[in-house]
Amino acid sequence: MQPADITKTPIDQKHQPVLLEAVLNALPIQANKLYVDGTLGLGGHTQALMLQAIANHASPAQFLGIDQDTNALAMATQRLAPLVEENPQALLFHTWHGNYSQVPEALASINEPHITGGILLDLGVSSYQLDTAERGFSFMADGPLDMRMNPLATQTASDILNTWNETDLADCFYTYGEERFSRGIARKIVERRTSQPFERTHQLAHLVEGIYRYQQKQGRSKKEGKHPATRVFQALRIAVNEELSHLETTLAVLPSVMAVGATVAIITFHSLEDRIVKQWFKRAMNPCVCPPLMPVCQCNLQPTFRAIVRKPIEADETEKLVNPRSRSAKLRIYERI
Ligand SMILES: C[S@@+](CC[C@H](N)C(=O)[O-])C[C@H]1O[C@@H](n2cnc3c(N)ncnc32)[C@H](O)[C@@H]1O
Repeated sequence: MQPADITKTPIDQKHQPVLLEAVLNALPIQANKLYVDGTLGLGGHTQALMLQAIANHASPAQFLGIDQDTNALAMATQRLAPLVEENPQALLFHTWHGNYSQVPEALASINEPHITGGILLDLGVSSYQLDTAERGFSFMADGPLDMRMNPLATQTASDILNTWNETDLADCFYTYGEERFSRGIARKIVERRTSQPFERTHQLAHLVEGIYRYQQKQGRSKKEGKHPATRVFQALRIAVNEELSHLETTLAVLPSVMAVGATVAIITFHSLEDRIVKQWFKRAMNPCVCPPLMPVCQCNLQPTFRAIVRKPIEADETEKLVNPRSRSAKLRIYERI
């Protein structure tokens, strides 16, 4: 089988793994190495990586799929089972339910101290999660204001909307959504929830639409391509799942969980995530804290990573057309040294 076939293997028409070819190039599977997919989702990337292992006779290769969404984990397991069962000599596959920031525990569950091959993080929500109204991620379909990627987590979007004070809500919309009407939206939410607590996605989407309609009439906002609630929904989702702090925790443990020579490939979808990744690796590649004029380094802090690509990889026009989710995707790749 040629690698070209692999990239064209669709997991299904709706769930196209983002930047698949670049991910396959970033993680050329080698025998006897362990690869971690920290965001297994529906297993699209992992499936292609497994096919690459078989095609390259890189066997046995070991895969560990992590996801905090129990439904996604079950679906991916079911989807990947035939491939794993047909190739018992070539593929070892484990799954672990939890947050990728707990990767040391996930590794301990399979008695592996280190990631020897590589780790992939394809951040954010999956199209399956977005498209399932009951999960509450979408302003398009009405559903409960849930937004938990981990169905066992305690805090939902409605908890935040109904309990956080006005300032914290506004800060959340501004910081995580870059929402310009964050204060007005927060004020309206706090006003409205006293008579009617927020329970449904459409309640929130309609409130934001109303504020935008008013601002447009006042000439303070123009009609845009995006739904006006896009930024508020993104902000809430990030807050519910504490996405940025989990990303930071994960980056901090990478040097200790990755073996020298292993690769980390991270796909981000908005500037907040990408900035965290970019800045963290900048420090990891050049950790010296000595004053710039000091002739010889005194701090002795050694780099722990090197960049495999100088600039992040983005989707080409064809992929952006076929898979709108790829439009904002940025893939950064580093090697543990
Ligand atoms: C974009 S999807 C991954 C899609 C996957 N690469 C594929 O090809 O099918 C992201 C997945 O990661 C999971 N996820 C997001 N953040 C997570 C975290 N901090 N810990 C564990 N899983 C996470 C989500 O539940 C979702 O299933």
